[in-house]
Amino acid sequence: MPELNQPSLTPTLGAIVDGVDLRDADERVWSKIQHAFTQYKVVFILNQKLDLDDLVRISRNIGDLMRLPYIEPVSTHPEVIAVLKEADEINMGVFGGDWHSDFSFLPAPPMASILYAQELPPVGGDTLWADMAAAYRTLPEHLRSQVDGRHVVHTGAPYGVDNAPELDEQFRGSMTVARKNPEADAEVRHPAVCRHPASGELMLFVNPTYTTRFADASAQDSAELLKAIFDHCTRPEFTCRFRWSEGCIALWDNRATMHYAVNDYDGHRRLMYRTTIAGHAPMGANPTSC
Ligand code: SIN
Repeated sequence: MPELNQPSLTPTLGAIVDGVDLRDADERVWSKIQHAFTQYKVVFILNQKLDLDDLVRISRNIGDLMRLPYIEPVSTHPEVIAVLKEADEINMGVFGGDWHSDFSFLPAPPMASILYAQELPPVGGDTLWADMAAAYRTLPEHLRSQVDGRHVVHTGAPYGVDNAPELDEQFRGSMTVARKNPEADAEVRHPAVCRHPASGELMLFVNPTYTTRFADASAQDSAELLKAIFDHCTRPEFTCRFRWSEGCIALWDNRATMHYAVNDYDGHRRLMYRTTIAGHAPMGANPTSC
């Protein structure tokens, strides 16, 4: 019998699921996972034995898979990317190594992402998530009054500048991240506060990797307020930190969380496979503010 009622990592984040083999999970199991996903925003499903065909197949239970801008997929599986850091990549950045929600700069950012742990360092390489609904609920009034009803600008361009400064074409490391991608480098406006389409919760939809400014202000004039909001969202109270084990899957709600890959395992290889589930344009707090 699957154990779907284990404690979550925090009161609002990170349900743990054990005793399930996703390769032959039935509708009842998927509906419990879906429920945990809505309630806890990140679901960790332990001890899976998947090949990439399985990963693609089980990911389709969550939604349609999307191809990603600027990241070269696994050659045999265009819906899958390998998130890889090799043992000899010392003193370098790591993919996802700052707070972000995946591809928030797209007009329709992903609804969810799925990461599958294939090969892990003996210690380190954890991932953190932040609950953006809890962050909005507790946002001090002087900040809330400055974000409600406003739009922010997202773009992938600064990530490229930070991660491909020398080659200008590729992420430095074992992942191929092509830059100068018009889709990633465009500026896209989204509401700063969005309503979750399933739970109805209000949540901040901003992140330090891709959100560069308020739509009605310059980057310079936006910097202080954005920093105060990012500092609030990443307070320990709103985050969880997960220590991976091989075969574990994390399924997260990309609309309601940010995440952060901890880069503390130089000298060891870490290989994860990721699929990404298509989403819709974020909805503002009021239906008219999309
Ligand atoms: C990502 O941002 O998708 C990577 C997360 C991780 O490697 O832990």
